[in-house]
Amino acid sequence: MAKINSNYQKLQAGYLFPEIGKRVRAYVAEHPDKKVIRLGIGDVVLPLPAPILDAMRAAVEEMGKVETFKGYGPEQGYDFLLNPISAHFKSQGAEVAPDEIFVSDGSKCDTANIQEIFDVDNVIAVTDPVYPVYVDTNVMAGRTTEAAGGRYGKLVYMPTTAENGFDPELPKVKTDIIYLCSPNNPTGAVMSRASLEKWVKYAKANEAIILFDAAYEAFITEPGLVRSIYEIPGAREVAIEFRSLSKTAGFTGTRCAYTVVPKDLKARNAAGDFASVHALWNRRQTTKFNGVSYPIQKAAAAIFTPEGAKAVKANVDYYMENARIIREGLKSADYTVYGGVNAPYIWLKTPQGMSSWDFFDNLLSQVQVVGTPGSGFGSCGEGYFRLSAFGIRENVIEAVERIRTRLK
Ligand code: MLT
Repeated sequence: MAKINSNYQKLQAGYLFPEIGKRVRAYVAEHPDKKVIRLGIGDVVLPLPAPILDAMRAAVEEMGKVETFKGYGPEQGYDFLLNPISAHFKSQGAEVAPDEIFVSDGSKCDTANIQEIFDVDNVIAVTDPVYPVYVDTNVMAGRTTEAAGGRYGKLVYMPTTAENGFDPELPKVKTDIIYLCSPNNPTGAVMSRASLEKWVKYAKANEAIILFDAAYEAFITEPGLVRSIYEIPGAREVAIEFRSLSKTAGFTGTRCAYTVVPKDLKARNAAGDFASVHALWNRRQTTKFNGVSYPIQKAAAAIFTPEGAKAVKANVDYYMENARIIREGLKSADYTVYGGVNAPYIWLKTPQGMSSWDFFDNLLSQVQVVGTPGSGFGSCGEGYFRLSAFGIRENVIEAVERIRTRLK
């Protein structure tokens, strides 16, 4: 008899964003006359900039001619994309060789898939609140026991709260794999250089690996903040970095991201000898993935041209102005708000100790604004709420106005 992977039965509720979508659809079905403003899931709204679209169009044309048609490409990505990505890292003060980069169809997929190249007995540390994918995929893989009180057994949770300045403390127990996300989804906080140095030192001392999610690095506006963990000396020996073009360049629907696995990164095999993590990820990708399509990689490469970079920056600036409008607007209505300066997310404290889901329901039913309940990101997110800056400007202004003037 076929049996299921019973680890899936440990998963709590549905995945956060489909659950929100379900509640919003139910509300809209009952109130078709209401204009709902969606600042929940971080999904971009601006179209692809012209230089990127032009590159994609030209590549589509190439696919229509026998002389320029492309079949399977390299699983890791074409050199025309790997080389500019490597140069981009260099411009940010990070050494990453083209053959250490793996182009993929998304950082969600990569941060989800990476765990399978590591032993099931590794001790996993995550922040709380946390991007749910890191947790759920480790539950699916069997690295946890059942959940109790909103937390899975065997996972090490590191609270990142206003009280500790959203800077996770080093775990008291020994951990093997640590997920860090900076700029952070959901809190919008950025880890300082000193904090990252502390983590790299910890990872070295404990032979641990840091999985560094930098999907939002393009949204950093303050100078001097760390964009790549490889800016930190020694990080190449202990860290994998994930980057995404989804939010940076409007690729949520188009799909393109990249992950760096440095050749200096080693982990022990069952015999206790060092093995190359790069070789393992390469093996995984070449077996399970056939690469991102040629037109999409051509479009992605256009992001790294001067015109492409300028156009992408204009979109990022637009979203960060939205973030400012939300942050300032809520502050003026006496909300306690975090984030929104170096990340496209605003993390607010719900008023009068209201639960995150109660605030969600109030916001939806009273002013028809959709956000994301903080508790959906972990128990330390209870009493918090996330608003995304990915919206059309007039809707963002209207949402803030509705919250300020009509929310009881
Ligand atoms: C979010 O809203 O947290 C993101 O859109 C989720 C994702 O990137 O997968």
